[in-house]
Amino acid sequence: MDKFVINGGKPLSGTVMIGGAKNASLALMPATILANGIYHLHNTPDLRDILTMGRLLETMGVGVSLVDQTLTIDTKTMNSYEAPYEHVKQMRASIYVLGPLVARFGQAKVSLPGGCAWGPRPVNLHIEGIRKLGAEIELDAGYIIAKAKRLSGTRILFDVSSVGATGNVMMAAVLAKGTTLIENAAQEPEMVQLSEFLVKMGAKIHGIGTGRLEIEGVDELHPADVTTISDRIEAGTFLIAGAMAGKKGGMIRLEKCNQHHMGALIVKLEDIGAKIRTGADWIELTPPEKIYAVNATTAIYPGFPTDMQAQWIALMSLAQGTSIVKDTVYFDRFTHVPELIRLGANITLKENVATVIGVKKLTGAKVMSTDLRASASLILAGLVAEGTTEVLRVYHIDRGYESVEKKLQALGADILREKGEEF
Ligand code: EPZ
Repeated sequence: MDKFVINGGKPLSGTVMIGGAKNASLALMPATILANGIYHLHNTPDLRDILTMGRLLETMGVGVSLVDQTLTIDTKTMNSYEAPYEHVKQMRASIYVLGPLVARFGQAKVSLPGGCAWGPRPVNLHIEGIRKLGAEIELDAGYIIAKAKRLSGTRILFDVSSVGATGNVMMAAVLAKGTTLIENAAQEPEMVQLSEFLVKMGAKIHGIGTGRLEIEGVDELHPADVTTISDRIEAGTFLIAGAMAGKKGGMIRLEKCNQHHMGALIVKLEDIGAKIRTGADWIELTPPEKIYAVNATTAIYPGFPTDMQAQWIALMSLAQGTSIVKDTVYFDRFTHVPELIRLGANITLKENVATVIGVKKLTGAKVMSTDLRASASLILAGLVAEGTTEVLRVYHIDRGYESVEKKLQALGADILREKGEEF
C-alpha cells in the first residue's frame, strides 16, 4: 500500500485546477441505466471511486470508458440487474443503482453496503422510499431483492435529509406512473446537478434546488450529455491547505471551481483571518498572519459540510485559542482525531464534539489513513508539521482526490508517493 512522505514547513503558493465533483459523478453514472444509448459525462474526475462505479456498471454489461475527463457510457448492451457484494463492499455509493434498475427493468439485486471506517451507514431511507413507490423489497443473504411491475408515484418524506436516498428515490420516481412528491429532499449541488441531468434526459422534475421535489413520471427517457460540476470538497481542502501552509504574503489560486457551492467555508475562512477573492470560476486565498480559533458545526447543504470537518479540525489544531467542532451529520466521523494527536494536536472528543486547543506547532510522525477525508486532514497537518510525516494507506485519498501529491508539489509542497510496506 502506497504512502505519502511529507517534509513539512514548505510555504505553498500558486494555482491549482479543481476537478469534477466525485459525488456528482457517482450519481450521474447510475442515472444512465434509465435509458438505452450513449452518454458523455464531461469533466469526470479520474478517481478510484469513479473506477469502482464504472466496473460495477460493466458487470451489468454497460460500456464505460474515461478518456481526457470525458466518461463515455453505453447502456445499449445492459444485460444484468445485479450489483454484487464484491463491488458494493468497496463503495457504498454503489447502492445508487437500485432505484434506476427497478425503474427501468422492474427488478434489482443489490448487495447491502457494509459500514465504513467511521461506523454504520444505514440505507433504510433508500429502501423505504423505493418500497413506498410500490416495489416489493426483501433482504436475503445480504442482498436487497427488489421487484416492481411499474413503480407508482406517491408522497415520500425523509425524516433525515439524505443525499443518497434523495438521488436513489428520484431516479426511481422519474419513470413511475403518476407524480411523486419528495419532502425534505437533499439540496446539495450534486443532487441539483442530478435533477438537471434527469430533466435533460426527458424527466419532469419541479422544485429543483429546494427541499421539495415534484416528479411527474414519464414512460421513457433518452440519453444526454452533461458537464460535471466542480468538486467543492477538493476545492475546500486546497483552500485550507493555503490557510495552513500558504506562503505569508503569498496566494493560493483555485481555478475551475464554483464559489457559489462553498459559501459556508468561505465565511469561516474569512473568520479565521484569511483574505478571499472570488470570480466566475476562481477563488484566491491570501493566508492569515495568524489563525483565529473559529467554531464549526456541520449541517446539510448549504451549511458547513461534514466532508470538510476533518480538514477544519486540522486547521484549528494550529489556531490561536480553542475551537469547538461538532458534526451533526455523522456522529462518529472522527477517526482522524487520534492520528492528529500523534502529530501533536491537542484535541479532546466527547461524542460528536471535538474541542481543539490550538498548539504552536505540530511534529511529523507516521500516521494512518482510515477514510477519505481523514486522510486529507493528515496530509494538511503533515504539510505544516516540523520534520517528516508519513501518511500510510493513501489508497483512501485516491478515492476522492486526483493526483493530490502532484497538485501539492506544484504549489511548493515537499510530498512524495512511495511504495509502503504491505501489511
Ligand atoms: C453523501 O453520502 C456523500 N457521498 C458523502 O460524502 C457525504 O458525507 C454525505 O452525503 C453527507 O453530505 C456521496 O455522495 C457518494 P447521506 P450519503 O445519506 O448519501 C443518514 C465523501 O467524503 N442516513 O446524506 O451516504 C446517515 O447515516 C463522502 O465524499 C440514514 O439514516 O449520506 C447520515 O447520518 C463521505 N439512512 C445522514 O443520513 C439512510 O438510508 C446523511 O447521510 C441514508 C442516510
